[in-house]
Amino acid sequence: MRRVSVAEYRFLAPMRGIGFEFAGTDSQQTVCGRNRFAIGRACERSGDSDFQSYIILAISLHISMAREDTGHDLRNWIDRVEDIGSLKRIDSEVDWDEEMGAITYISHKKEGAPALLFENIKDYPENYRVLFNIFSSSTERLALTMKEDPGLGERELIQKARSKLTAREEPKPVDKADAPVLENTDRGEDIDLWKFPVPKMWPGDGGRFIGTADLTITRNPDTGELNMGTYRQMIHNENQTGLFTSPGKDLRLHLQKQWKKGEPLEVVAVYGVLPELFLASQLTFGEDVSELEIAGGIRDSPIETVEGEITDLPIPANAEIAVEGKMYPGERKMEGPFGEFTGYYGRPEDDAEVNTVEAVHYRDDPILTCALMADYPGCDINLTYSVGRSARIWNDLDSLGVPGVKSVYAHPAGASGMSMTVVSIEQQYAGHAKQAATLAAQCPGGAYFSKFIVVVDEDVNPADTNQVIWAMATRWDAERHTDMLTDTWSTPLDPSRNPADERPYGSQLIIDATKEHKYMDEFPPRTAVREEMYDEVVDRWDELGFDYDAPSLPIFYDETGGFDDDDPDLEEGASGDDDGHMTM
Ligand SMILES: Cc1cc2nc3c(=O)[nH]c(=O)nc-3n(C[C@H](O)[C@H](O)[C@H](O)COP(=O)(O)O)c2cc1C
Repeated sequence: MRRVSVAEYRFLAPMRGIGFEFAGTDSQQTVCGRNRFAIGRACERSGDSDFQSYIILAISLHISMAREDTGHDLRNWIDRVEDIGSLKRIDSEVDWDEEMGAITYISHKKEGAPALLFENIKDYPENYRVLFNIFSSSTERLALTMKEDPGLGERELIQKARSKLTAREEPKPVDKADAPVLENTDRGEDIDLWKFPVPKMWPGDGGRFIGTADLTITRNPDTGELNMGTYRQMIHNENQTGLFTSPGKDLRLHLQKQWKKGEPLEVVAVYGVLPELFLASQLTFGEDVSELEIAGGIRDSPIETVEGEITDLPIPANAEIAVEGKMYPGERKMEGPFGEFTGYYGRPEDDAEVNTVEAVHYRDDPILTCALMADYPGCDINLTYSVGRSARIWNDLDSLGVPGVKSVYAHPAGASGMSMTVVSIEQQYAGHAKQAATLAAQCPGGAYFSKFIVVVDEDVNPADTNQVIWAMATRWDAERHTDMLTDTWSTPLDPSRNPADERPYGSQLIIDATKEHKYMDEFPPRTAVREEMYDEVVDRWDELGFDYDAPSLPIFYDETGGFDDDDPDLEEGASGDDDGHMTM
């Protein structure tokens, strides 16, 4: 038995694979845990000094973290998420008809709310479960899926995502006997998509959507390359779903090519997904980039797949529920509307292509995965889109050779990271800020449906809304630092542009909230404390009685004040202190 200091915790925390148990003098619920994440949270809650009173009962390599890599399936992920306190099981009976959607929306009005596992759904057997909000606004669950430390913040995750999203791992085929998804298969007359507890999420939805946290695998008819994408799927009847695809999306391109030959397109749709696959499939990559390989790159090991029995397509072997089907040329049925990621019903009920299901594969006690689309933070994809898009824009700017980019942040509240991009740069030459902003507005990773592009200096954290607004308030002059791009790439789902048939086009506002480059030397220095003083205060932090960690600061006092002391214009008339710094 021994105590663990906060410093020691911080040393131990990054070590993967170490689990230890401890108990505290506080309520067991809040301070006890079996692993480093729980300890981290307990530490934060209790404050540094109090933490000393929590006695470690055993520090062992019994490896609660052993759960981490023992199996690549959703159930293993659920266990690990539960271990870090980020899952809520709901065993009271709930209705598939609007109630699951409402519980999810209301509970996720709080940022970072847990994933929800519904275990008792009206009209369905208890072993048929539904998981909502795989990611939602939880950095912990996103980091864990990316095989990163769940303690990482959003900014660090964006940095990690920059390399993860460019890594590739080819899928690994496995034998049928090693594919849990084949534990049960329904064919022909036995097919009944209603057998799963599929929710109707919003009152105005046009039906029950079996595919939301889903993925759809198709093959490019010209090249044979695989594509994986997330497309909503509404049940029409026992064996048919409506599969809505926006113009330009890969699945739609595959359909167009295959139908030109007069042949049906083969489809595998997965309705009980592995989170890393869901993450890769919802992000946009080139037509011939296989998101199966990207998912492998994200988790740093190949995705196990098994051959389809109806189609020439792979099925993720550890999926919970997967169907094989065909989309026949010209076949369409009325589909929607659906409560969208914009927080609106963007597309009224309309024709959409149909998938006719020929085989349904599912595990024993299957888990259907669902994603609620809503305004922030109630939308499942806000954070994933924010992180994925920020990483891609940053990579695009790098590959275009724009120097000095310090950070990129696509704000999750901007319709899932799409609408608002903030770039911070260290200005190096005239026009640099404008160049970074316009390229961020139009690079492949950032062009779709973006509306505001704000560029700030390196002393402003783009992910800190308060700082960004402060920079806009103090460095942006609306008349001279604003540009507009018109007829840009947008979406038919944007309700701000009317009449609706104008919607594929949008417009973008470029806000240069950097210190005006032309007058950089004269720009007033911002108030800041000296670094030595900061260190002194942090050293005394506990003694001063604060019960939270000392916040970090964006910048320290610059002895030069940013002024050229020899500049006579500045000396004259400037009210300054003895060092020549401006004072109020
Ligand atoms: C929950 C969810 C539902 C989505 N539904 C659709 C949809 O119905 N139609 C569509 O075109 N895109 C939809 N998307 C966006 C696509 O998944 C996304 O654009 C993806 O990059 C498409 O991949 P692909 O072009 O590689 O096929 C959805 C995304 C999510 C996360």
